[in-house]
Amino acid sequence: MPVTIAPLHPHFAGEVSGVDISQPLSRDDVAAIEAGMDKYAVLVFPSQKITDAQQMAFSQNFGPLEDARGGNVTKPEDKRLGTGMNDVSNLGKDGKPLARDSRQRLFNLGNSLWHSDSSFRATPAKYSLLSARVVNKRGGNTEFADMRAAWDALDAETKVEIENLVCEHSLMYSRGSLGFTDYTDDEKRLFAPVRQRLVRSHPVTGRKSLYLSSHAGAIEGMPMPEARLLLRDLTEHATQPQFVYVHKWTLHDLIIWDNRQTMHRVRRYDESQPRDMRRTTVAGDAPTIAQQAAE
Ligand SMILES: [Fe+2]
Repeated sequence: MPVTIAPLHPHFAGEVSGVDISQPLSRDDVAAIEAGMDKYAVLVFPSQKITDAQQMAFSQNFGPLEDARGGNVTKPEDKRLGTGMNDVSNLGKDGKPLARDSRQRLFNLGNSLWHSDSSFRATPAKYSLLSARVVNKRGGNTEFADMRAAWDALDAETKVEIENLVCEHSLMYSRGSLGFTDYTDDEKRLFAPVRQRLVRSHPVTGRKSLYLSSHAGAIEGMPMPEARLLLRDLTEHATQPQFVYVHKWTLHDLIIWDNRQTMHRVRRYDESQPRDMRRTTVAGDAPTIAQQAAE
């Protein structure tokens, strides 16, 4: 059965059928999924019951996995999942929901802010793949915003004004906006800001997109309040309902999104109940800053 994709939204996001991702894929299937990602930027694969090993093997069809170090405040000895898996659950190593005042939980609440995964790394992520192993009865939807459609909809003057701007991204900016400001010296070093273009082009399609993220907290050559206001304004524009696909999770859904073309956020849910979501991340291949400035 060939891979088929049914659109879920006028601008982006599609639902994939005709593939079992627990099994090794043919080269044609991988090519069809990559082409689907270039077009749709978000692909939903329903009813894919997989293990961590199967998720990692499937992810590696699209490139090497990203080194997760430096992406959170969870100590190595407190990690629930093995190397290669990003834990975006609300669970501790004992499998139970984290305590309300858990530092790990409070830091992870930053995932409720619109962001692009790993924009705080000099070479940010290509794809993220999220597998739903335990879902919530209510809440916990993930929302995606199409940053290509958001760019396309800007007026010509704004496009010229922002096209060559460079932002600073850091986990300390996103968490700082929630009042999480307490870091060890090691964390401050790990979370040092990196530079990212505000507008980037997709390496395959050439389509431009806004590269926004709650990790963005400054713009080079611009006074801080002016930069923050511009970033806030662009984010409000880019996350209007017409650019957003809302996903309500069903057990064993897997979603791939292209971090180069989208932002996402998780919505609030009852954190006394377990939510087990496991992410793999495909590494990007170049810093955005290496992209040529517009003429
Ligand atoms: Fe994320």
